[in-house]
Amino acid sequence: MVVRNIHKRLITRLFLGWIALSVVLGIAAFFIKLEQIDDLVQDLAIAESKQILKDKRYFSPNLSEQEHRILTERLNNHIENGNFTVLELYDAEVKKLFEVDSKNADAMDAHDNYIEPKEKLGKANDSMFTDNITYERFFVHGRVFLQYVVPLFDGSHKKYGYLEGVYRADDHIMEDIWNIVIESLLLVVASVFATAILFYPIVMAMNKDLIKLTGDLSDANIGMLESLGSAIAKRDSDTSSHNYRVTIYAVTLAEELGLEVEEMRRLIKGSFLHDIGKIGISDNILLKPGKLTDEEFEQMKSHVTHGSDIVGKYAWLKDAVDVVANHHEKYDGSGYLESLRGEDIPYNARIFAIADVFDALTSKRPYKEPFSYEKTIEILTESSGKHFDPKILEVFIDLSEQLYDKVRKSEDEVLEKIMHDLVRKFFYTMNHS
Ligand SMILES: [Fe+2]
Repeated sequence: MVVRNIHKRLITRLFLGWIALSVVLGIAAFFIKLEQIDDLVQDLAIAESKQILKDKRYFSPNLSEQEHRILTERLNNHIENGNFTVLELYDAEVKKLFEVDSKNADAMDAHDNYIEPKEKLGKANDSMFTDNITYERFFVHGRVFLQYVVPLFDGSHKKYGYLEGVYRADDHIMEDIWNIVIESLLLVVASVFATAILFYPIVMAMNKDLIKLTGDLSDANIGMLESLGSAIAKRDSDTSSHNYRVTIYAVTLAEELGLEVEEMRRLIKGSFLHDIGKIGISDNILLKPGKLTDEEFEQMKSHVTHGSDIVGKYAWLKDAVDVVANHHEKYDGSGYLESLRGEDIPYNARIFAIADVFDALTSKRPYKEPFSYEKTIEILTESSGKHFDPKILEVFIDLSEQLYDKVRKSEDEVLEKIMHDLVRKFFYTMNHS
């Protein structure tokens, strides 16, 4: 149960970690790969522009109008047949010589969505006219466009002009780009996954040790709880079975009432230790067969204070205080030690009071013989709203006959086992107190 819980939590955490890390590293990988994409597209663009620039007439001075028209037509052909959507040629003084644009829908969108807004913002491409190749990448409809300016130098390294182009990655290039991106993302996802897989057995092995240690500690603590409870139960009833029985009654009732695990643990600790303060009461009062005198009864009451003192000193036992301090309070305020009434009495203590009195009435004590089940229920019912919380009592009476039958027929060893199982059910879960 505990181990399965850890498996589940670990797998959930590793899975979430895997997703988160994949997303972060995937984004990082994508941006790194963008540079590779830029290089790829730029190489292609430059190769294509070299093709165009083989014809040196574009830059010859004093072109006739007819020659200009013919050359413009040639550039238009390049655009129609190649990947450029804009081609502009400038002389060395950045005076525009030629300009052709594609009427392709993608190219128009690229112009409307990227180039024109940029120009309107005053970020015209003046800054791109330098002695080096400059470029900017943008995406339109998921397609890569590269706007770039190449300075052109002749054989004697003299700059004679610029070529500005907007290069559109065609389907084939986009497929290459997607392959680059997907490959790197898959690599990221796979490496993170492999790391998680590697971590899993390591963390599990470490956890196994921890679980064993926690189990040992719980065993030790619960063992101490049982021993302490039994020690005191033996003082006034010869056996530990009173403690086993009240714990079984209280836990069964609390389960029916739907108590939270944390509260249930407090109730169990309280059930074991409810009368621990009797260690401070002398035998002639504790074991007196007859009725106690007023003075003796006052001393008897002090077992509640002694008990609170004892459990209050130890963090793990402190949980029992609700029951230890309040198990003799009565619903109508006539109990001790604080004369609390109604819902001022902790819920745990109200549950426990019913279990405790039910067991006292149905058991033999130094001063009395056991009452029958029917007589006991009669007494409890008469005390509804006086000694006991009526709502809780009603639930207890409904389940009491079957429960009493089971407990009455069981040997001490069987009772011990029933109680052990109940305790384990609430203490050996993941959220340890
Ligand atoms: Fe008591």
